[in-house]
Amino acid sequence: MSTKIKLGILGGGGDSLIGELHRVAAKMHDHYEIIGGVFNPDHKISLEFGKKIGLDQNRIYKNTEELIEQESKLDPSQRMQAVSVLTPNFLHFPMAKLLLENDFHVICEKPLTTTYNEALELKKIKEKKNAVFAVTHTYTGYPMVRQMTKMISDGIIGNIQKVDAQYLQGWLNPVIHEKDKRSSTWRLNPKQSGSSCCLGDIGTHAFNMVELVTGMKVDKILADLNTLYDDNPMDIDANILIRFPNNAKGTIRSSQIATGEENNIQINVYGSKGALKWKQENPNYLYHLTDDKPLSVLKPGHAYNSEISLDGTKLPPGHPEGIFDAMGNIYKGAARAIKNMPFEKVEFPPIEDGVRGMDFIEKALESNSNGNIWVKLNN
Ligand SMILES: NC(=O)c1ccc[n+]([C@@H]2O[C@H](COP(=O)([O-])OP(=O)(O)OC[C@H]3O[C@@H](n4cnc5c(N)ncnc54)[C@H](O)[C@@H]3O)[C@@H](O)[C@H]2O)c1
Repeated sequence: MSTKIKLGILGGGGDSLIGELHRVAAKMHDHYEIIGGVFNPDHKISLEFGKKIGLDQNRIYKNTEELIEQESKLDPSQRMQAVSVLTPNFLHFPMAKLLLENDFHVICEKPLTTTYNEALELKKIKEKKNAVFAVTHTYTGYPMVRQMTKMISDGIIGNIQKVDAQYLQGWLNPVIHEKDKRSSTWRLNPKQSGSSCCLGDIGTHAFNMVELVTGMKVDKILADLNTLYDDNPMDIDANILIRFPNNAKGTIRSSQIATGEENNIQINVYGSKGALKWKQENPNYLYHLTDDKPLSVLKPGHAYNSEISLDGTKLPPGHPEGIFDAMGNIYKGAARAIKNMPFEKVEFPPIEDGVRGMDFIEKALESNSNGNIWVKLNN
């Protein structure tokens, strides 16, 4: 009998941005078999897409409720065990809640929910059910991010004194200046996106990266957000000051109107003995800076990397791996957890990271609307 995890997918259809990334990533390490799902709210389109990717038409359902009802009737050897939630943000909470309550493991896109309270509720159900829950902060799966995290926790750069994170995109620039365009994209519609656009879509990735690589929790933030037009209710640009409990300070700058930028997420961490710098658009280079030695550049797959970084590469050095591989590593980590195999904490972002992300969003909005004041996170 196959030991592959039977995986369902909600959202991520042929019309989506993120679906193919998840499908390829899920198949990458031979841990999962995609069984079916709901790929589109229109059942006909969903069926057509399921057929195109070679799935059994009987496992393409009309909605989450039908998926749960029908899958639950199946013999455990056939039943879906885990479901990926890849829909617009407002559907993450109701879908993930139903899945957890009915004993499915969940792999969910970020932002976890549309409110902090929903995120807490999901965490409570997840704990009660003892399910595996991964939040796909994709960039955490890169081998050089894992290496950076390990080097910082090993004290290679000493005590952290400054953190500078950015996530700059420009895709919204051609949309935002035309009223009909800005009122028709779901990311700028609070009903579908939640209370935030820029912070929910990309700021949470930068925040998650900051807390992952430093191993520290942000204590307070001060946010200055921009909506650009009065009829746009959503943040599309964010400049945020951050403070850690140990007096280290830093910034998270994220924007969707940084004209011409593509997917420029970067993180620089400066310590008392050195610094590490990593940039997503060139993900196979990790820069190590010190006061007294020439710059050194670490690359994936070499024996000098940590075990957890090496676990994230599949080919010998010099064969560039990228975003598909990073997501593949997250799926691999979640599979190990689902199969009760040993795994390390950094292998996939847990539900707690999703909850932190929602707290970050709400506190940034609070800071901004109260005149850019310092607000404490729920640590
Ligand atoms: N991890 C990342 O780096 C990353 C990147 C992009 C998007 N995302 C996240 O992924 C999610 C999806 O984003 P996207 O850009 O792919 O969106 P999208 O609008 O391109 O695609 C959404 C998909 O969900 C489907 N869908 C909508 N309602 C549905 C329903 N009721 N049932 C089933 N399917 C439904 C749509 O048909 C479509 O296939 C968002 O939460 C977004 O924040 C994450």
